[in-house]
Amino acid sequence: MDPVDQWKGKNLLFVAGGIALPPMRSLIWTCLDTRENFKDVTILYGARTVDQLVYKHELKEWEDRADVNLAVTVDPGGETPDWKGHIGFVPTILEKLAPKAENTIAIVCGPPVMIKFSFPVLKKLGFPDENIFTTLENRMKCGLGKCGRCNVGKVFVCKDGPVFTLKELNELPAEY
Ligand code: FES
Repeated sequence: MDPVDQWKGKNLLFVAGGIALPPMRSLIWTCLDTRENFKDVTILYGARTVDQLVYKHELKEWEDRADVNLAVTVDPGGETPDWKGHIGFVPTILEKLAPKAENTIAIVCGPPVMIKFSFPVLKKLGFPDENIFTTLENRMKCGLGKCGRCNVGKVFVCKDGPVFTLKELNELPAEY
């Protein structure tokens, strides 16, 4: 079953960093198209600087919606004098916002360092590994599960992923 179908009736927490918003926004819009299927929707998005925030018009749309909680942050030093959003790294702001873990699916997409430091925060907040989703960015060639370029152990990232839960990642060899 499509993971989005499995998320029905749950809260959704999207955590995106840098240029991960473009792939993440398609998923966000897919979920917002059937907004009635989900409970609270929270989006945390961060970039290094205000200039590097992408899809600013869509951020504004989400900010204006009563059924979306949006938090946008820039790294310390990346703010402009008129910046009204958060200042701090994504995992820091995630900890500060402390979204509730109960009945919530977290979808994390961004630079490896952001993902690495966001997982412990989510775990501290009480998110079980099977409710945390992320993507692997292994190098790919055929994209069909044939060439063996992308595999981690027996798992082909191109065919079996690239979206995995943290629970599934924990079961992979440490090389991913
Ligand atoms: S890219 Fe060839 S097996 Fe995955």
